Amino acid sequence: MKITITPEAPEDKSSVYSLNAAAFGQENESKLIDLLRNSEHFIPELSLVARSESGSVGHILFTKLEIAGPEGVTYGTLALAPMAVLPSLQHLGIGSQLLREGLKRAAEQGYSSVIVLGHPEYYPRFGFVPASKWGISTSYDVPDEAFMAIELKLGALEGKAGLVIYPKEFNEV
Ligand SMILES: CC(C)(COP(=O)(O)OP(=O)(O)OC[C@H]1O[C@@H](n2cnc3c(N)ncnc32)[C@H](O)[C@@H]1OP(=O)(O)O)[C@@H](O)C(=O)NCCC(=O)NCCS
Repeated sequence: MKITITPEAPEDKSSVYSLNAAAFGQENESKLIDLLRNSEHFIPELSLVARSESGSVGHILFTKLEIAGPEGVTYGTLALAPMAVLPSLQHLGIGSQLLREGLKRAAEQGYSSVIVLGHPEYYPRFGFVPASKWGISTSYDVPDEAFMAIELKLGALEGKAGLVIYPKEFNEV
């Protein structure tokens, strides 16, 4: 299937909401996107929609995130969350295209790393490894292998050990 991937436009809001709800089987992730869109963490160029001739079929969101290091120092990174493909169109490579395009655009925008909490079987194929490699941790109680990071610039996470602080919006849904 031929798809194009471009940043979301104002008129995409409802299709982004519904395709995420369909993919996750609940509305929490859709609500999270709406909250993040209205927050300081939102980066309009990194809310990407995959489109086919029939409309929006997938979505991926990267938002600003901080790692709290020692003595009050913080390091900027990106959160990848959520990503979704319409259930009827999963396993066709659309998610992979969204992820590769998203990482490429994030690097072009000058971001140097991305953190994801997700399927440990999925993200490593794109280069994600456990964030514990760099001493980066989360307060969420998740398996080590599900909390992953990738450097978009070699060495970007070296010396950036700390605790990831998810924006409050993540706890509001
Ligand atoms: C995860 C998701 C975005 C992948 O999109 P996609 O277009 O199906 O991805 P691709 O076609 O590029 O890759 C498919 C591969 O992803 C992997 N995959 C898909 N869903 C997975 C899941 N829930 N757990 C682990 N791996 C998964 C499988 O290895 C699959 O390979 P297969 O087709 O050989 O079975 C999509 O399955 C989805 O929307 N799932 C529901 C929402 C979700 O879980 N989002 C991610 C939150 S971390």
